[in-house]
Amino acid sequence: MTRVAVLGSGVVGKTLADGFLQHGYEVMRGSRDPGKLAAWKSGTGGRASIGTFAEAARFGEIVVLAVKGTAAEPVIDLCGAEVLAGKTVIDTTNPIADAPPVNGVLRFFTSLDESLVERLQKRVPVAHFVKAFSSVGNALMVNPRLAGGPPTMFICGDDRGAKDQVKRILDQFGWETEDMGSVEAGRAIEPLCMLWCIPGLLQNRWTHAFKLLNR
Ligand SMILES: NC(=O)c1ccc[n+]([C@@H]2O[C@H](COP(=O)([O-])OP(=O)(O)OC[C@H]3O[C@@H](n4cnc5c(N)ncnc54)[C@H](OP(=O)(O)O)[C@@H]3O)[C@@H](O)[C@H]2O)c1
Repeated sequence: MTRVAVLGSGVVGKTLADGFLQHGYEVMRGSRDPGKLAAWKSGTGGRASIGTFAEAARFGEIVVLAVKGTAAEPVIDLCGAEVLAGKTVIDTTNPIADAPPVNGVLRFFTSLDESLVERLQKRVPVAHFVKAFSSVGNALMVNPRLAGGPPTMFICGDDRGAKDQVKRILDQFGWETEDMGSVEAGRAIEPLCMLWCIPGLLQNRWTHAFKLLNR
C-alpha cells in the first residue's frame, strides 16, 4: 500500500484524504494542530492517522499539499527539504490573495511570470512538485460524474516519473490527464482557478469542470 501524506485540514485535504483511502492508499493527514483532525480520524475507523505537517510529510511516499496558498511556502519549510527529497509533492494550492475578488475574479499574489508551483520547486529543488487538482472545486475532485464524461485535469512539473505517478492517481480518481509540461506551465494552470470560480462567485454555480476536446 502506498503511503500518502495529505497536508491540510480544510475541505480539499478531507476530500483527497477520503479519496485516497477509498482507493486503497494508506493516509496520514497533517495540520499545525492535529487535534482538529481527531473526529475525521475516528470517522475512518482507525484506517488513517494524523500528525503535524512534518510528521505527515515524513510518513508519506507521496505528499499532497492542500493548504492556503499564502501558507504553501511556510508549510513546505516546516516539512523540510530532507524529508521531501525525492518525493512526489502534489500541489493543489492556488495563490489566492487576501484581497477580495473584483466582479467575481479572484486576485492572486503571484504574477503571470512566476507561479506558486515554481516558487515551491525553487524552494525545494530535491522534491518533485506536480501541479494537480487546482482547477476544480473539491466536490468534483474524486470520481466526478458529469454529463460530458470524464473531465480533464491539467498538470505540470519537471519530473517525468512524478507526473506518471500523478497520472495513475488521476486515472483512479476518474480524470483525463493533460500534461502541460514543465513547472512553468503553472503560470497558465493556476489562473484556471480564477476562471473556474467566476460562475460560482457570480451565479452560485459550482458543479462544472474543464475538458479539453480533441478531433
Ligand atoms: N476549496 C476548494 O474547492 C479548492 C479547489 C481547488 C484548489 N483549492 C486550493 O487548495 C488549498 C486548500 O484549500 P481548502 O479550501 O481546503 O483550505 P484552506 O482554508 O485554503 O487551507 C487550510 C489549510 O491551510 C493551513 N494554513 C492556513 N494558514 C496557515 C499558516 N499561516 N501557516 C500554516 N498553515 C496554514 C491550515 O493549517 P492548519 O491545519 O494548521 O489550520 C489548513 O491546513 C488552497 O490553496 C486552495 O486555493 C481549493
